Amino acid sequence: MDFEKVLREKIEKTEKIVCGYLPGEEGFAKELAQAMRYAMQAGGKRLRPLILGASYEMFGGEGRVAEPFMAALEMIHTHSLIHDDLPALDDDGYRRGRKATHVVFGEAMGILSGDALLNYAYEVALHSFDLTEDGGETSRVILSLQILAAKTGLYGMLGGQSVDVGCEGQAIDGEILEGIYLRKTAALLEAAFMIGAVLAGASAGQVRAMEQAGRKIGLAFQIQDDILDVTGSMEELGKPIHSDERNEKTTYVALYGMEEAVSQVEKLSGEALEIFKSMGQEEAFLPRLAQWLVTRKK
Ligand code: IPE
Ligand code: IPE
Ligand code: MG
Ligand code: MG
Ligand code: MG
Repeated sequence: MDFEKVLREKIEKTEKIVCGYLPGEEGFAKELAQAMRYAMQAGGKRLRPLILGASYEMFGGEGRVAEPFMAALEMIHTHSLIHDDLPALDDDGYRRGRKATHVVFGEAMGILSGDALLNYAYEVALHSFDLTEDGGETSRVILSLQILAAKTGLYGMLGGQSVDVGCEGQAIDGEILEGIYLRKTAALLEAAFMIGAVLAGASAGQVRAMEQAGRKIGLAFQIQDDILDVTGSMEELGKPIHSDERNEKTTYVALYGMEEAVSQVEKLSGEALEIFKSMGQEEAFLPRLAQWLVTRKK
């Protein structure tokens, strides 16, 4: 497999699917729709929908039922970024290579466009019922909606974000830090790996294995994000560096040091690879992606 080529093709396909579900810049709440599109079209990596689609393919999925979920997951992720950048949270003025949504549209519209994207995600995900072919597929869609909601909410991403901001300026231990990362970042990645598998008809055991892989890759992803906040550049990342230090966040790098952070990213990615091996999928796209993420610069 020419990994880089396959990755480029998948990103292009994902981009089309995600953008195809965006609301038009029209109607009574036109400015809100503009702010939603602004945040979504700024050009993120599209990692979560890409993983969801690749997981669906890995388990033999061939239809289009995963597409609304791909778009929905990227909308939820983008909602989290808009709100993460607000003055009350990380107070960052740049995102995805351009001014943050609240900087361009104002704080009220930043709050509302984040809310609206979170809700629109479910409006879009519900469209997947129109793409199901039989009762079996319908029950997979219902389970996927449950996973999406649970991984996003109080016990998932939003819960993690709340403890993350609540702990600013405080010394926290490794256990709390891992609790934050598992929720604020790993939960949505787990959802991506799991929902693709569920929609393709994977067994409960396979879905659990994908959740574990998502957990490892999600943790590694956040540690790498902390590393890049120190070693990266705004040009490459498209967002400000040293944001964590400015906000007095205890990050993995701050707690354990750079060397340990780098080796932890490698260790977790290796563990994810083992999970794919145990499923006989070491040659698939997703384990290659996990390895590639270890060296990511943005
Ligand atoms: C940023 O996520 C927020 C974290 C969970 C670290 P990404 O690095 O995937 O951001 P985009 O989507 O590419 O902008
Ligand atoms: C991101 O954590 C988690 C979510 C947005 C849910 P960060 O605050 O580290 O993300 P960046 O660095 O701003 O992208
Ligand atoms: Mg944050
Ligand atoms: Mg942030
Ligand atoms: Mg960060």
